[in-house]
Amino acid sequence: MPLVNSKEMFEKAYNGGYAIGAFNCNNMEIVQAITEAAKECNSPVILQVSAGARKYAKPIYLKKMVEAAVEDTGLPIVLHLDHGADFEICKDCIDAGFTSVMIDCSSKPFEENIAITRKVVEYAHAHVPYVTVEAELGTLAGIEDDVKVEHGAESYTKPEDVEEFVRRTGCDSLAIAIGTSHGAYKFKPEQCTRDPKTGVLLPPPLRFDILEEVSKRLPGFPIVLHGSSSVNQEYVKIINDNGGALKDAVGVPEDQLRQAARLAVCKINIDSDLRLAMTAGIREHFEAHPEHFDPRQYIGDGRAYVKQLVKHKIVDVLGSNDKI
Ligand code: G3H
Ligand code: 13P
Ligand code: ZN
Repeated sequence: MPLVNSKEMFEKAYNGGYAIGAFNCNNMEIVQAITEAAKECNSPVILQVSAGARKYAKPIYLKKMVEAAVEDTGLPIVLHLDHGADFEICKDCIDAGFTSVMIDCSSKPFEENIAITRKVVEYAHAHVPYVTVEAELGTLAGIEDDVKVEHGAESYTKPEDVEEFVRRTGCDSLAIAIGTSHGAYKFKPEQCTRDPKTGVLLPPPLRFDILEEVSKRLPGFPIVLHGSSSVNQEYVKIINDNGGALKDAVGVPEDQLRQAARLAVCKINIDSDLRLAMTAGIREHFEAHPEHFDPRQYIGDGRAYVKQLVKHKIVDVLGSNDKI
């Protein structure tokens, strides 16, 4: 099966009450871990590539690795541009064979966001085969490539804007801001309560009222959540027990993501959790085997942890297992 766009995947996910995992790829081991996990779970999957990933690994390597994964697994896989900053990067990716792109003008004024998104949609939809376009309304806190939005400067999506935005842009899916944020430090300690027994921070709940209002206004329309890593504390502990220093790292609780996946959320973006799992595997390996210097040994352990994590996400959070 060749790479696919996200249209049919999202229709099935919407109607089936689950979400597709959109996992960020930066190297071969990450691509393998994600797609082997998806294969074992019989799950569709989205592999997404940021501008930072393109800079790190070179677009041609990423594209070929994803094509290899498609051939190796036979899965329906979407190759998606994550956080395309302008028309040019979206066009580049569409021309290079991506099956889906995100145009992220969420930090721009409403009219400008509409104009640029519309331009990308016209180009993407004229492409044969049709390339799907994700757009965004509202801004998340955290770091995306070079853009850093401080906590407090983020803004929730305004439900009253979404119908006009989707109608005028023609986008295929919409990322909204309901309290998630990028990175492994999603909430400031003062926004959280602290579990007295474990000392772990418990974050404030997502704004399900906004999600529900948006989905009422856009019935049947796929919603996307960025910044949806849960910062699983088992990996944070392994990292910290093996020389790391991640203090007060906190993410979005998985039960809230499961709930969102049952509603209109069809795509859930996960990157930081993969980074934590990879780092946990490598740190643990170095601590246990200080004499090792073959990268296949320690990166192999990192890859095994990422695979285990992706299987857990597919089965226990996204609910996309056995959907092929
Ligand atoms: O949303 C951001 C993603 O986690 C990508 O991060 O820009 O460091 O590749 P990156
Ligand atoms: P996390 O940092 O929560 O993994 O979010 C990733 C993301 O939104 C990629 O676009
Ligand atoms: Zn994102």
